[in-house]
Amino acid sequence: MIEQSKPNTKRLHMITWGCQMNVYDSGRMADVLAPLGYAPSDSAETADMVILNTCHIRDKAAEKVFSELGRLRLMKEARRLAGDRMILAVAGCVAQAEGAEILARAPYVDIVLGPQTYHRLPEMIAQASRAAGAVIDTDFPAEEKFDFLPDAVAPQGLTAFLTIQEGCDKFCSFCVVPYTRGAESSRSQVAVLAEARRLVAQGTQEITLLGQNVNAWHGIDEHGVPSSLGRLARALARIPGLTRIRYTTSHPRDMDADLIAAHAEVPELMPFLHLPVQSGSDRILAAMNRRHTGAEYRDLVARLRQVRPDLALSSDFIVGHPGETEQDFEDTLALVRDIGFASAFSFKYSPRPGTPAAGSPGQVDEATKDRRLQTLQALLREQQTAFNVAKQGQVVPVLFTNPGRRAGQIGGRTPWLQPVHVQGPETLIGHIVPVFISLAHPNSLTGTLVEEHACV
Ligand code: 5AD
Ligand code: SF4
Repeated sequence: MIEQSKPNTKRLHMITWGCQMNVYDSGRMADVLAPLGYAPSDSAETADMVILNTCHIRDKAAEKVFSELGRLRLMKEARRLAGDRMILAVAGCVAQAEGAEILARAPYVDIVLGPQTYHRLPEMIAQASRAAGAVIDTDFPAEEKFDFLPDAVAPQGLTAFLTIQEGCDKFCSFCVVPYTRGAESSRSQVAVLAEARRLVAQGTQEITLLGQNVNAWHGIDEHGVPSSLGRLARALARIPGLTRIRYTTSHPRDMDADLIAAHAEVPELMPFLHLPVQSGSDRILAAMNRRHTGAEYRDLVARLRQVRPDLALSSDFIVGHPGETEQDFEDTLALVRDIGFASAFSFKYSPRPGTPAAGSPGQVDEATKDRRLQTLQALLREQQTAFNVAKQGQVVPVLFTNPGRRAGQIGGRTPWLQPVHVQGPETLIGHIVPVFISLAHPNSLTGTLVEEHACV
């Protein structure tokens, strides 16, 4: 640590794009900066430091960053004229992939840092304050970032994210992650359990384990032996007060038998799994380098549902990958019909510079991508609504987390991640309560309290 704890005298404004891992990283960057006296602020205009935590997964992300930078440049200049300094940092995957271009196009940026180096932020700030030019740090350092981060400072609340794994070795044809986040690496089981215990001590009841390829996690246990996500889930479930465990995002190839068994044995493991399939066509799955077929995915889902019949699935889909024909797209629709998803994200293929698919022949035109996306999304919406409607008339356990938008309302989530609203007292926030589902909506449920007492 470069400086000792100081009173919160400086304002830190962060803008976060992209996945939950970026949300987690933004929280950890705030933790790194808290001992330097930086406190989070909603206003960019009056901030002493602004960090843009960026995403590079699909196009337009970089353009959004540059338009935001244009806005911030004016604020930074106004501060300078007033005799104040605003430190401007670009972090995350756009920084990692396009660091040099950022500095060429926006020379007023002070710091460019990749996802693997934010533990070095205090040094970068010191350097940026001394030097006239910008500081750029997009290394994949040999040291473990997590070993150099302070313990999380700010409580995350009743539900929290915990990054256990970063990077990816799968090299799907379309994806920038292996290039921006680097090779797969797993935090140790001891470190993960310690962070989970800290979160629970601060009031967290539900933890979502995060990783680009989370079920490839193989952090070493206390004996120095590689563990597995199934074992980690069982160890986490033994922490008193931790009532719900989730993990995202998983690769079908890394769903091993032990993890499937954990879904049967660990009641804390919620019956909702985000398991991206991307396509239902074996030809396109091969072109995507996904290392599984449609049949293998169906079989995996069948094995999961066998041990956990109430397991709901969510997925990611890409339409218009290079080479995708009408028949390939039909195969995707057929897989969706066979599985029945509770929710899903679907995207038009977006060529990412440097990835194999970007230079592949058979690029699909925009109009075709648009049409396929609309068709797929209509089917997925139908399935999501059907999944919600199936809960009508049932009593389900809801973890209440927040006051609702309307007076007298409180909000929470079912085990299947559906938002639920009921009329009820705020004293139920922080409790898991049985709720009768009276009405289903496309994206949420309305319910009534069955009894006033909390249940487990
Ligand atoms: N184009 C469109 N979608 C993509 N995704 C990743 N890369 C691309 C791309 N180049 C989607 C995948 C992935 C999700 C996080 O983003 O579906 O699972
Ligand atoms: Fe990207 Fe996921 Fe494929 Fe890894 S497994 S390359 S993160 S899409």
